Amino acid sequence: MTDLLDIQAIQQALTPIVDPDRQKSIIDLNMVRDIAIKSNGVVSFTLLLNDPNSPKRDPLIQECKAAIKAIASVTDVWVKVIANSPTIATPASPTNALQGIEGVKYVLAISSGKGGVGKTSVAVNVAVALADMGAKVGILDADIYGPNVPVMLGMEAAQVKVVKAENGADVVEPAFNYGVKMISMAFLIAKDQPVVWRGPMLNGVIRQFLYQANWGELDYLIVDMPPGTGDAQLTLTQSVPLAGAVIVTTPQTVSLLDSRKGLKMFQNMGIPVLGIVENMSYFIPPDMPDKQYDIFGSGGGKKASDELGVDLLGCVPLEISLREGGDRGVPIVLGHPESASAKALREIAKAIAAKIQNP
Ligand SMILES: Nc1ncnc2c1ncn2[C@@H]1O[C@H](COP(=O)(O)OP(=O)(O)OP(=O)(O)O)[C@@H](O)[C@H]1O
Ligand SMILES: [Mg+2]
Repeated sequence: MTDLLDIQAIQQALTPIVDPDRQKSIIDLNMVRDIAIKSNGVVSFTLLLNDPNSPKRDPLIQECKAAIKAIASVTDVWVKVIANSPTIATPASPTNALQGIEGVKYVLAISSGKGGVGKTSVAVNVAVALADMGAKVGILDADIYGPNVPVMLGMEAAQVKVVKAENGADVVEPAFNYGVKMISMAFLIAKDQPVVWRGPMLNGVIRQFLYQANWGELDYLIVDMPPGTGDAQLTLTQSVPLAGAVIVTTPQTVSLLDSRKGLKMFQNMGIPVLGIVENMSYFIPPDMPDKQYDIFGSGGGKKASDELGVDLLGCVPLEISLREGGDRGVPIVLGHPESASAKALREIAKAIAAKIQNP
């Protein structure tokens, strides 16, 4: 049984359960609706029954609960029973609920299974590189736990502006620097405050940033995700049709295992994984730029792409100037365009654009 908690895992667990009256899977009969997963591992769903007063109802609910509880990370299961009616019996696929953003061509997620591997550095530099190549680019910082995009894009002091649209609705006005529009969770959180938001609130904020922001016309909206496979990932993948996901990893084996989880989540949701970026691939000493040290061993990127079965979009070396650029708010593709990491990041941006446009 999988330990990765997502809607597909729950549907899989429920597939063997048959409706006692019709002798078909309750999933195939579309009797299971509104599956939701809370961050504390509680799973809830609605069960549609032709006869909610049937004596077969309770055994069926118990069977569903047992099947879902067999998934490692589930803590509890809540089932709401409603009567089936012809009007709601039309098959609904999870993708039906996806809603694009007006004016935005492609939304892509930069993700990883693990923290600190360089997602934000990659997201920011890819965004700036794409803008530099003439594309219209936005970046949504969806990392509620450590929203670093404003610092890395030199927009730490930016304030979120909420303006009234003609129809009276509140519209969030993105900040703008280096040709990139940006909205960040950082704008909503007092500095140095720990974040204790739970799923539904986070869900609301991400959706507001997606749909009630004045993104205008964009070729690419890049979403910088928090590490792991939690609420933010779920909200994003269930809200907007994603053109693809990029997984950032580092060469060590542990990081690779985490990447596999991150990767699987997108694949399970039917979202194309454009490829992986191997960050901190090798070290270039600032005083000896022609030297490179394979700190974590060599060929890791290739091995990772083979093992994970996805393309390798590029390898970014470990360079002090990349970290310094991030801290100063000048992305390395602009601050040191001739450096090895800037070159690698530009190539990665090109590879991402090519893959999105010719899937
Ligand atoms: N290739 C690199 N060379 C040097 N420093 C790097 C490199 N990649 C990332 N860093 C530095 O490592 C730190 C973590 O990077 P970053 O914030 O981009 O990772 P992240 O995956 O977004 O982290 P989190 O999971 O916390 O969001 C930052 O200080 C960044 O400047
Ligand atoms: Mg980050």
